[in-house]
Amino acid sequence: MRRPVIAANWKMHKTTGETRDFITQFVPLVEDVQDVEIVIAPPFTSLAVAAKFLKGSNVKLAAQNLFWEEKGAFTGEISPIMLRDVECEYVIVGHSERRQYFGETDETVNKRVRAAHQAGLKVILCIGETLEERESGKTFDVLKTQLSGGLKEIDAPDMLVIAYEPVWAIGTGKTATPEQAQEAHQFIREQLSGIYGAQEAQKIRILYGGSVKPENVASLMSQEDVDGGLVGGASLKPDSFAEIVKNAIKEA
Ligand code: PGA
Repeated sequence: MRRPVIAANWKMHKTTGETRDFITQFVPLVEDVQDVEIVIAPPFTSLAVAAKFLKGSNVKLAAQNLFWEEKGAFTGEISPIMLRDVECEYVIVGHSERRQYFGETDETVNKRVRAAHQAGLKVILCIGETLEERESGKTFDVLKTQLSGGLKEIDAPDMLVIAYEPVWAIGTGKTATPEQAQEAHQFIREQLSGIYGAQEAQKIRILYGGSVKPENVASLMSQEDVDGGLVGGASLKPDSFAEIVKNAIKEA
């Protein structure tokens, strides 16, 4: 059975002080949770303080992005080695906001995935269709292209988590129905099976993202191919994020 992952994507929220306050409140709320892998992705400036306060806990650290070069004249960028240095285990790559506002393409997403893997970072690769693409029947084409582009020449499926995030559901309060999520997740697993073989594809966790809340996480998790969530807005408060973690525990 795949171990569920619940990951917090804080986006551009929280100073170092707010990060410390969140973690000191949140960690005790989830210290008994064993059946869910818990991940928090604060902004770059909070990674070091988060690493310090998460030490010894069952909560893992992720970054929200990275650059693909090791070092050099790339003003404003952060390298995979720098993320390892602050004890990140995961990095989110290809979030739709990066694609939409910062010009990321499947090609640059792929460079990031490769660089992350080479540095030993696990990747949460985000893919998902816009409303327009869904309404014009292109959802599967988009998912297929983003997957094959993002995963080009990536041969480490064990270092990979996929996040299906329909763009129309992000920050809108409009969640995909469990059936819509399952349909997309099943399609994604079939594609992964084509790339890595059925056995490996069965092991890859596919998370749903887009207005996940304490109230809807269990119904999403009840779907066979939904293995967790990538949570934005509802991950910013310790109580709400802890409730999501607890409600995500799958019935055996
Ligand atoms: P949301 O964001 O939970 O606020 O919709 C999810 C995401 O963008 O990862």
